[in-house]
Amino acid sequence: MSEKSSIVTPGHFSYIAARTRGEDATLRLLRKEARAAGYPPISIAPEQGSFMQILLRGAGAREVVEVGTLAGYSAIWIARALPSDGRLRTVEKDSERAAFARSMIARSDVASRVEVVEGAGLEFLRSLPDGSIDALFLDADKAGYPAYATEGLRILREGGILMADNAFAFGELLVPSPVDPETPAVRAFNDWMAERPDLQAVIVPLGDGLWVGVKGRAHARCSEQPQPQS
Ligand code: DHB
Ligand code: MG
Repeated sequence: MSEKSSIVTPGHFSYIAARTRGEDATLRLLRKEARAAGYPPISIAPEQGSFMQILLRGAGAREVVEVGTLAGYSAIWIARALPSDGRLRTVEKDSERAAFARSMIARSDVASRVEVVEGAGLEFLRSLPDGSIDALFLDADKAGYPAYATEGLRILREGGILMADNAFAFGELLVPSPVDPETPAVRAFNDWMAERPDLQAVIVPLGDGLWVGVKGRAHARCSEQPQPQS
């Protein structure tokens, strides 16, 4: 039977992680130094990073934007999926975090492909021309996601990739009385995404739930049955 998805257990996730290319020494060190500097342990999972790289490579992405740099961990995953003349611009509103990420990325193998932009995510997205980027990754304040995604859908090219972290609300998505103040915003964003007519998107259960979408309507042949000839 495969008309329904199989139930995924913690054992399945361990199985997946054991069969997915993980972190290298650079990323491991970054996480360690970020912890030592007092940053919360909320970077993306390695299997999520690998999946994002697969999507970016499949789409031939060259121009990518990330909102929410934190320590620069996901930026390095993303930049490694780009060609040598590709570019990731990652926006961080906290100046200390931006400086930390800049120093980590400067020591990495993808320093020439990453620009850390210090400032407000929405303002930066608003400054970019229509259809000018190939992919966008949202990983910032959850209440801001609908506005980021709205601007994102303007600046993405047709067929461009929209990704957003934390669709599972830090594990609280289906919890009756969530404690995290951002959980209601995640739930509202998930419903907002599900209703978008200009995006084909699905939540992939890797990490804390990853929204992945492609800009543009699904082709008619995917959503409609052909009419029989009379
Ligand atoms: C948390 C995790 C995240 O990935 C994020 O972007 C924000 C918060 C958390 O677990 O609190
Ligand atoms: Mg996140």
